[in-house]
Amino acid sequence: MKKRNRNLLLTGGIALGLLLWAGLDTRLTVREYTVESGKLTGPVRLVLLTDLHGCDYGQDQRELLDVVEAQNPDLVLLGGDIVDDEARMPEERSLATVEALAERWPVYYVTGNHEFWTGRVDAIREEISRRGAVVLAGECVQVTAAGQPLQLCGIDDPNVGERAWQRQLEDVTAALEEDTFSILLTHRPERVEDYTGRGFDLALAGHAHGGQWRLPGLINGLLAPNQGLFPPYAGGSYDLEGTTLIVSRGLARESTRVPRFFNPPEVVVVELVPETKK
Ligand SMILES: [Fe+2]
Repeated sequence: MKKRNRNLLLTGGIALGLLLWAGLDTRLTVREYTVESGKLTGPVRLVLLTDLHGCDYGQDQRELLDVVEAQNPDLVLLGGDIVDDEARMPEERSLATVEALAERWPVYYVTGNHEFWTGRVDAIREEISRRGAVVLAGECVQVTAAGQPLQLCGIDDPNVGERAWQRQLEDVTAALEEDTFSILLTHRPERVEDYTGRGFDLALAGHAHGGQWRLPGLINGLLAPNQGLFPPYAGGSYDLEGTTLIVSRGLARESTRVPRFFNPPEVVVVELVPETKK
């Protein structure tokens, strides 16, 4: 082989290696969003964690817990698929994570499809509640966070049954109070039509895992469950006619059969702030 060709091959090989190394990096990241509202008089910091699937974040989940601690949240919201249905992903690790979070912050939880797929969703809800998180399944609670009154509503995954799911959605919508900042915690991002026009200020979801493979700036996700190829709600912030939908790319790492690519797992921080006068 000519020297020039050998150099070209070597350079290509190194470039490919670097691309793979960077793309397959699954170190935890933090993604921040800011949501303004005239209903607030001061800031509130929310941390949204979704799709943990029992994944390993170091000894006692310290890697994850330290990142959450550094965000100084007022509330921690768990958006489903925290527990996985496969035996290789330990349920106890998920539950211990919930417990550790709940010892430190107020924690609210809704189910995802994988909790239903365990076939023991009621027992999981009960256990999560026993570990100190508030389980929301078609209900709203009034909370005060950083001195701000909030209405926090949560619904199950649609695996609860379509009719029951619609009923939960109707129940939380009926409970809304116009002057209080309202949050809908839900696992599914693709059900945008069901969330639009209900009057929620903020909707938070997960499930899509960021579309698994990304090319930031070019392709925001290749494939997501219930959305297919090039999923429109793979991760990010979306305006649903007055409701801001924020979709977390989630925390799943070793649980996925296909590795994430340019799509590191993320802790989502949502800073709620009073409206700035224009
Ligand atoms: Fe899911």
